[in-house]
Amino acid sequence: MCGIFGCLVKDKDVAPLILAGLKRLEYRGYDSCGEATIHEGKLFVKKGVGEIDKVHAELGLDDLPGEIGIGHTRWATHGAPTRENAHPHTDCEGKIAVVHNGIIENFLELRKELEAKGHVFKSKTDTEVVPHLIEEFMKEGLGFQEAVIEAVRKLRGSFALAIIYAGFEGMACVKMESPLVLGVGRDGIYVASDIPAFLPYTNVVIQLKDGDVAFIRPDGFRIYNFIKGREVKRKPRTIDWSADMAEREGYPHFMLKEIHEQPRCLKNTLRLDRRYLTMMADLISSAEEAFMVACGTSYHACLASSYAMSRLAKKAVHPVIASEFVENYGSFVGPRTVLLAVSQSGETADTLEAVRHARERGATILGVTNVLGSKLTRMARVYVCQQSGPEIGVAATKTYTAQLSVLTQLAVIMAERRGKIGHVEAEDLWDWIHKLPDLAESVIEVTEKDIIRLAEEHVGVEKFAFVGSGINLATALEGRLKLLEIAYAPSIATSSLDGVTAGCLGKGSTAIFVCPSSSPDRKRLLDEACMARDHGLNVIALAEEGDEEVKEASDEQLVLPVPPELPEVLSPLPFILPLQMFAYYVSVKRGLNPDKPRNLAKSVTVK
Ligand code: M6R
Repeated sequence: MCGIFGCLVKDKDVAPLILAGLKRLEYRGYDSCGEATIHEGKLFVKKGVGEIDKVHAELGLDDLPGEIGIGHTRWATHGAPTRENAHPHTDCEGKIAVVHNGIIENFLELRKELEAKGHVFKSKTDTEVVPHLIEEFMKEGLGFQEAVIEAVRKLRGSFALAIIYAGFEGMACVKMESPLVLGVGRDGIYVASDIPAFLPYTNVVIQLKDGDVAFIRPDGFRIYNFIKGREVKRKPRTIDWSADMAEREGYPHFMLKEIHEQPRCLKNTLRLDRRYLTMMADLISSAEEAFMVACGTSYHACLASSYAMSRLAKKAVHPVIASEFVENYGSFVGPRTVLLAVSQSGETADTLEAVRHARERGATILGVTNVLGSKLTRMARVYVCQQSGPEIGVAATKTYTAQLSVLTQLAVIMAERRGKIGHVEAEDLWDWIHKLPDLAESVIEVTEKDIIRLAEEHVGVEKFAFVGSGINLATALEGRLKLLEIAYAPSIATSSLDGVTAGCLGKGSTAIFVCPSSSPDRKRLLDEACMARDHGLNVIALAEEGDEEVKEASDEQLVLPVPPELPEVLSPLPFILPLQMFAYYVSVKRGLNPDKPRNLAKSVTVK
């Protein structure tokens, strides 16, 4: 996730407006930034590494000349945070500048084709193929606008782009899967990843749709849709959000916004470069001993995927809470050990300590993280960036489900390469993995109303138990952690609720059972749910559509629109979503601020 801002304003140098717009988008990414403008038929570019204030202090981002310009604040996806990789990216002649948010899946093959035609690349980014592609089409004789359309037709993946060209008095904006909105003001037209970026200038907004290419000129704009192959009309709407609300896209809290972003983030995890997952799979497979180390939510993702790895790939990859690693396993780690560290931030002190220790003893370090350029990416031999974009809410949500998706893909690749699953089972699993973003979307949509009601009923409940067995012990642990973190509700998570514990919790407490029909322990879970009711607990069961058995064993059912055929190894992903929302709404109903839980840092970077 990066932030894009562009504008065309009559009789005004736009560089200061772009700078201000980027500042309002900084929460989307902040490892590097840059601007480009056009003035008297010439392209001007400034860019640098670091937060916007730092780059501005060094380069003076607001003094570029021109009434047309684009800017970008980056959250690295391809290529480390360096000046070369910062946006805008330009073509060989330095006449076309492009800023991009998203992932271009086929950039490697496009880059090869373009290099074969003589184009020289300066960065390691996927984005840089775009200016070169446009340049190439223009060399073949197309005008700028036609060249943009032909170029974006060749791209696969997600892309929001703002493009300027020294020979065109205007700007091209493209939307495909990544967000991009136009703001229509009295004196100018704005384009941004998010509405708040231009809200001080206009509240008339046009939401671009996938395939839209808007050509903005001083006298107005027109929108062409490259999927439909024709010009389209989009209706402007006037919004009445405050600047504060707009930053969260109208959501009252970042946490809720991030919960709703999960389908999009999951789609991003399906665009990862398979080569790196395959390298990881092979390194883990050939290890004498393999560990996953992580803290908090990331540890829960490891726990769930260790089940997936042993079930599918028949390989034990031990999940260890990072702070426990050195003391308990450190003495026999060696060159034949593989350590997979999972950390959203890539900076958690305990996780890095485990990595440092294992590295010193010659182990192979692998990493899964959300932050390219983090310490973990510098210490790992192979790493995968989960592409969730910055997570502002202290409680991890979208980064958890993205970790689950990445690690499950790794488990399936391991299983395939070790010959532990047949191609039919593998294809079935991949089909399901590709359905997960849509499944997540419908789970959030369908269950949210019921969860709001349940949360209201639970404002005063003091104690909770989360019960999930096998792979869904991770779901129970993560559901409990969320409630604890943001609603401060004393609660336990367990794979089996016995009579003693139920008795201790006592009447008036609530037990939440995670009951996918694929669970091999289902009968026991249902028996325990009945027992908990006998002890006076209120029992909520999370189950799939059409699950009649669950009704008999519980007081309330949260029915997820998930087909019962969903393989059990994938069930932690949809089943955690209602629990994230439950924690969020209980926190809000208790009058707390879920974005700012007390006594809690997003990740602990000091020991
Ligand atoms: O950045 P990391 O994934 O290494 O952070 C690990 C934990 O600190 C983190 O998951 C923490 O538990 C979150 N607040 C969970 O919501």
